Amino acid sequence: MDITQACEAFRVLLEEQQARIANANEEKKDFSGMDTITVGIIDGDGIGPLIMAQAEKVLRMLLADDIAAGKIVLKNIEGLTVENRLALGKSVPEEVLAQIKACDVLLKGPTTTPMGGTMESANVTLRRELDLYANVRPVSIPEEGIDWIFYRENTEGEYVLGSRGVSLPGMAVDFKVTTDFGTRRIAKAAFDYAKNNGKTRVSIVTKANIMKKTDGKFTEICHQVAENYPGIQADDWYIDIMTANLVNPAIRSGFQVVVLPNLYGDIITDEAAQLQGGVGSAGSANIGDRYAMFEAIHGSAPRMIADGLQDYVNPTSILRATVMLLRHICRQDAAQRLEKALDDCDVTVTGDANGATCQAFMNQLLTLL
Ligand code: IPM
Ligand code: MG
Repeated sequence: MDITQACEAFRVLLEEQQARIANANEEKKDFSGMDTITVGIIDGDGIGPLIMAQAEKVLRMLLADDIAAGKIVLKNIEGLTVENRLALGKSVPEEVLAQIKACDVLLKGPTTTPMGGTMESANVTLRRELDLYANVRPVSIPEEGIDWIFYRENTEGEYVLGSRGVSLPGMAVDFKVTTDFGTRRIAKAAFDYAKNNGKTRVSIVTKANIMKKTDGKFTEICHQVAENYPGIQADDWYIDIMTANLVNPAIRSGFQVVVLPNLYGDIITDEAAQLQGGVGSAGSANIGDRYAMFEAIHGSAPRMIADGLQDYVNPTSILRATVMLLRHICRQDAAQRLEKALDDCDVTVTGDANGATCQAFMNQLLTLL
């Protein structure tokens, strides 16, 4: 590619992004009044099918009455496997996407992103296709008074054009995009959560001293949104010091809600999950106005399969995500029951042969439900 071609590619990207802004639609779905809610179950690959089998079992138990009454339909969606995606050359094959779009909410196992090549991560495609703009990741360490919730912007920033950068002789350029509407809606989601859950503080995290245009906009708009929430303190931090703050026992329990752009949110939520007990311990919700998708925070762990550690997979993260799904579809009692059982279960799965097996964990969890 030469400079003229690169400029042309950039022009196309800018036009597409302007069109995205023009088409933004902010109508919200209200689950409380719906007659039938369709929950899509997507296994994914690697350890995905193993942990999803446990999550589906738990969902069927907790929602038995609703399922029998036809109020909730669980629908298994096949075909989002790395083999099928590679064979069709699509990160999310069209017929799979059509089935997904026919659901209201999704519970999804981890999907492998092939290294190299041009195939986009299925997660990123789904977040964009379903406009799942809020990646919500709670982390709690009760014994230290830590109760954090991260609102990571999930459709923009470094990810929106992540597979569409340009290479020129001797150099490469990627793009980061921050829009007013995209920032406003994630900020609103974070502040609404704070307001509705008795939180008094929202921390805005960027690198606005360096990424002046994009992160500068993000910070500015978050502060504008904050003005509509009297009684909630908004403070801002740079991502580098924030990663240090999370391991600083003197101040870390003071953070409550954190709102941040996509890539920083990706990185810091792994750090936070690790502090809580590993990336296998945290759930993750991808929420939009029309759809929502709940998943484990970790990947498909093909190494566990290769090493024959199938029996030791940890279903905790997908089960935490299941709690979030139940809350989202207004099944508070079921959510509460599962959350309490997970809090009380003292069988420790570590993801290797030093820990308990998935079966041992599930045996206890099911008795606690
Ligand atoms: C996550 C994951 C994804 C991301 C990958 C699988 C594309 O790390 O959900 O945090 O980068 O967002
Ligand atoms: Mg991540």
